[in-house]
Amino acid sequence: MDVAVTMMSEKMATQSFELRLPPAGFASNALGSDQPLIVSLGQAQGSFHVEYQGVEIASACLSARDAKLLVFDTISDAVSPVSNEDIVNAVLEAILACNPELNCFEIEFADHGLVKRLLELGAVERHGGHQVVRPESFFQQAKPWLGGAVNAYPEVSVLTKGVLHPQRPPKPAGRVYSRFIPWLNTQLGFHVVDIEADLEHFHRWMNDPRVAAIWEDSGDLSYHRDFIAGRLADPRTLPLIGTFGGVPFGYFELYWAKEDRIGPHYDADGFDRGWHVAIGEDNFRGKAFVSAWLPSLMHYMFLADPRTRRIVGEPIHHHAQQIRNLDRSGFAKVKHIQFPHKKALLVMLLRERFFMDRLLSPDLDGLLGEDGLPMLGSLPRSTA
Ligand SMILES: CC(C)(COP(=O)(O)OP(=O)(O)OC[C@H]1O[C@@H](n2cnc3c(N)ncnc32)[C@H](O)[C@@H]1OP(=O)(O)O)[C@@H](O)C(=O)NCCC(=O)NCCS
Repeated sequence: MDVAVTMMSEKMATQSFELRLPPAGFASNALGSDQPLIVSLGQAQGSFHVEYQGVEIASACLSARDAKLLVFDTISDAVSPVSNEDIVNAVLEAILACNPELNCFEIEFADHGLVKRLLELGAVERHGGHQVVRPESFFQQAKPWLGGAVNAYPEVSVLTKGVLHPQRPPKPAGRVYSRFIPWLNTQLGFHVVDIEADLEHFHRWMNDPRVAAIWEDSGDLSYHRDFIAGRLADPRTLPLIGTFGGVPFGYFELYWAKEDRIGPHYDADGFDRGWHVAIGEDNFRGKAFVSAWLPSLMHYMFLADPRTRRIVGEPIHHHAQQIRNLDRSGFAKVKHIQFPHKKALLVMLLRERFFMDRLLSPDLDGLLGEDGLPMLGSLPRSTA
């Protein structure tokens, strides 16, 4: 192992560690289908098993001795459509998402083809004679959350209103991101707005005075239908609906910054992205929810194109509530921008900061789970 990884292992070795997973199991989407892989604790300390449709397909143990070592006892490769890679991804996701204080651990398995594949992907790294898993690398794998590998769309320049920018890929449709949120014990999803299915709640949200005060887009159904149709037709924007446990709760509008109104105000890169938000359902407001959807939305943008190195935002300059949320989520304050309609604060999140500081795992200090323990998946920043 190199010096940095050795030091991390030594640091872990001195800490007492008890593997935590949700009592009913961690439902990973590593397979990329509606049927999750369930990772649950076993009887022996550090042991756990993986189930698919009620059938056990793998068992493993994360030793608490010395440097942490994950050993697979069994991996069944006979259960279609689950591949060994999906099983390993599900296990790594469950361990890292529920135990974010783990800086790294070693992994061992006998399948050399699988080791080679995971090394090529960077999900696992080789340091000396050891195979090592690190959250900052693993969470940059797209498949467990996006459902498949992503490719960098060919970079061909086009001109829009005098701005040269990369031609954008065709829009995805349907579900684009799924993630099991340990502290909520539910699935967070983002899907591309479906005008027929999503118009009613989108219309209601946009007419909520709290949302309208910021968006200034209240109106009737036909106005909102046209609004969504316009966003779907514009290659610059991707309109998404967020769901918790399948229930829609908010609207998210992603954009490519270069050809957006924000582009001329800073040295925008061709793959910088930005976003707007409207949380429409009060039942899904507050810390436990923001700390789930906000980092996940950033995760989606960083995974959707490996060339996206920065994510920007432009809240109105006096929106203290949202500026505080952005600050807690890793966004740096850059400068004020005077648009014709508002003075905004340009904020920016770096890919490097997001993954290296493990911002997908929020600090949920002050919240306790039903068992009275700190929230599953919370990473106190003072120890990060
Ligand atoms: C602004 C908006 C997105 C905020 O969402 P919300 O669910 O209302 O959440 P709140 O701002 O009330 O609370 C967020 C909490 O999560 C915390 N939080 C935010 N990001 C976090 C993170 N990454 N990790 C941990 N905690 C985080 C905040 O500190 C705050 O905690 P506190 O209440 O203990 O201070 C939402 O109210 C909204 O959509 N408003 C209307 C439209 C709008 O303003 N859009 C933004 C335009 S820029």
